[in-house]
Amino acid sequence: MAILKIARMGHPVLRRRADPVPDAAAPEVARLIADMRETLADIGGIGLAAPQVHVPLRLVIFSVPAARAGDPEAGEGAPDGPVPFTVLINPEIEVLDDRSEVGLESCLSVPGLAGMVPRFRRLRYRAEVPGGGLLEREAAGFHARVIQHECDHLDGVLYPMRMTDLSLLGFTEEMARWISAAPNRARATTAVGDGG
Ligand code: NI
Repeated sequence: MAILKIARMGHPVLRRRADPVPDAAAPEVARLIADMRETLADIGGIGLAAPQVHVPLRLVIFSVPAARAGDPEAGEGAPDGPVPFTVLINPEIEVLDDRSEVGLESCLSVPGLAGMVPRFRRLRYRAEVPGGGLLEREAAGFHARVIQHECDHLDGVLYPMRMTDLSLLGFTEEMARWISAAPNRARATTAVGDGG
């Protein structure tokens, strides 16, 4: 296993559409997943997409720890509850509620910054899983935000490109101090995205 270098905003690998993974059960895919998992654990983020480690394939890893879940008391199968470590290969998203909500996100590929990003509240996702087989889940709130953030990486989209108000993009410490202090921004106290 190895800790991989993270691509930063501006690198072409983050701007292109990633290619489908031809064989989810291939040994090189298992190796990539192991390296990405080690990399994410080393940095302490929530999720990571393969293009962020310079591999232009449609694969993401993530988890939602109870401390970050919208409903930490919910069971692991609940849409807005904690989610165990998960690998999604060739994921597809179906939006179930086209209303969006704004929340604070950061990204390992955009270090030092955080921004308020509108995301759909509720969706269903389907993906292949390592070794074969399919996974299908519903996601809401924080879980849905993580899925949208990570899957955007597979289409060359970084969170600032989803922002509708760039005055709400700032340095992480300032955003945590000022945005989370506003009463109507209570949900923003939970920073999202793969930057953690
Ligand atoms: Ni990211």
